[in-house]
Formats: sequence, structure tokens, C-alpha cells
Amino acid sequence: MKTVLITGGSEGIGFELAKCYAKDGWTVILAARNRKKLDTAKEILTKQFHVQTETISIDLSEQGSAQKLYDTVKEMGYEPDELINNAGAGYAGTSWEIPVEDDERLVSLNDTAVMTLSKLFIKDMIRKQNGLIVNIASTGAFQPGPYIASYYASKAFVVRYSQAMNYEAAGTGVHVLAYCPGPVDTAFYKKSNGVRPPFYMSAGQAAGYLYRHRDTKKDILIPGLIGNLSNLLPARVRMHLIVMIKGNMKQK
Ligand SMILES: NC(=O)c1ccc[n+]([C@@H]2O[C@H](COP(=O)([O-])OP(=O)(O)OC[C@H]3O[C@@H](n4cnc5c(N)ncnc54)[C@H](OP(=O)(O)O)[C@@H]3O)[C@@H](O)[C@H]2O)c1
Repeated sequence: MKTVLITGGSEGIGFELAKCYAKDGWTVILAARNRKKLDTAKEILTKQFHVQTETISIDLSEQGSAQKLYDTVKEMGYEPDELINNAGAGYAGTSWEIPVEDDERLVSLNDTAVMTLSKLFIKDMIRKQNGLIVNIASTGAFQPGPYIASYYASKAFVVRYSQAMNYEAAGTGVHVLAYCPGPVDTAFYKKSNGVRPPFYMSAGQAAGYLYRHRDTKKDILIPGLIGNLSNLLPARVRMHLIVMIKGNMKQK
């Protein structure tokens, strides 16, 4: 039986992804903070798809938490075939007005945890000469993000780190992929105090696209026409367009 570990798998894109794996009979391990949401997610997956579902309540923005998650998964007797580093957070606002502690937690969650979990799990995968690590970034990774600066910058780290790791892993049987959706309709915007642009995809669409295309040989995967087309524009033009769209939306 194949096993996938999904961080942030209790809601949004992560939970929709969990459903895709469960539908195909995979054992699913979900890691997130909120115990109640994890229990609900487990109940749905077990009832709907009759698969083994494990949940681990952990705050991945805390120091040492990635190693703790790795150890817990191993103690439970699992060695995931696929790892989805999906848990992430963002804070909208003028960069110097966002409390330092919030941005420090953001970097710990969006970057440090992703890097550490990738490092730890890739070694087991290389030993088995088989495995996939998907790091969920964003189209925000490809240009500066005024008024959501730390989030966009953190996702740029995710893309570049994943690409480099994937290059190093050539010939090992392990693939590392950065997945870069544009706007997705989840609770993310409410939590980040941000503004969702008028064009977006559902969490089910974002997860389904990744699930169907995850055997790509590429190191970056972008779903949807808008995300792929806008990436052809120079980064500065994209940055101004994004600020314009979000500015207009605030006035509505
Ligand atoms: N929504 C978008 O427009 C969009 C676009 C591109 C990329 N993304 C990326 O996609 C990923 C998933 O986003 P989403 O939109 O699905 O967000 P979401 O609906 O807010 O879900 C976030 C998930 O991460 C978990 N999480 C948050 N903080 C955590 C922490 N400190 N430790 C452990 N787990 C934590 C949450 O559970 P708990 O709160 O219980 O911990 C939840 O399961 C993120 O990396 C995000 O940056 C989102």
C-alpha cells in the first residue's frame, strides 16, 4: 500500500489533494495544528474512501518541528512514497507594519519546514530509488509582491530550493517538484487578511491538476492558462498588474 504525507492536509488544497490520493487507495497521513479539523478530515476520508488515514497535530512554524514530524511518521511505521509540503501562510500589509514575529513564523513554516522535511524524507526515498516530493509554492514566487512581500519572497525560496534539489536528485529515482498555482478559493485570503483576485480556481481544481500531472519531468508545474500566460510577461510588469488588481479590489 502506498503512503503520502500531506502537511496542511486538513483543509483547502491539502485536503482536496488528500481526497485524490484516498480515492486511489493510498494511505494518507495529514499533519496540521487544529486537532478538530484533522479529526473531521480523517472521518470524511475514512467514510468516503475506506482508506487508512493518520493524523498528526503539529505546529510546523516551531523550531525543530520538521524533525519531530519526521520522527513521528517513522515511529508510526511509515516511510512515505510521496511528500507534499503544502502547509503555508501569508500576511498582507505594508512590509514594515507586519510584526517581526509573524514574518519569522511565516519563514519557519513556508521555508524552513519545507527545506528540512525535504532533506529528511529524500534520503529514505533515495535509498528506495523511488519517491516524489512536491513543494507547494505559488505564481507569487515569480515576481516581487508589494503588500504581501514576505509571502511572495518565501515562495521564491521554495521554487529555487526545489529546482536545485531536483537537479541534484537526477538519476536517484526521486523527483522534486515545485507546484505554483495562481489564486485558489480557500480560507487562505481571510487568514492572511488579503484580497483574492477576481480570477481563481477551486481547491479541488488546484489539487486535481497536481494529482493528474505530478509525474511530469518538469521541476515547476503551473496550473491554468492565466498563470502560464502571465509568466511570459516581465516580472516588473506582473508586479504592477498584481498591485493594480488588488488596489482596485480594495476600493470596491
Ligand atoms: N489559496 C491560494 O490562493 C494559494 C495560491 C497558491 C499557493 N497556495 C499555497 O497552497 C498551500 C495551501 O494553501 P491553502 O490555500 O489550501 O490554505 P488553507 O486553506 O489556509 O490551508 C492551510 C493548511 O495549512 C495548515 N497550517 C497552517 N499553518 C500551519 C502550521 N503552523 N503548522 C502546520 N500546519 C499549518 C492549516 O491547518 P491548521 O491551521 O490547523 O494548522 C491548513 O491545513 C499554501 O502553501 C499556500 O501558500 C495557496
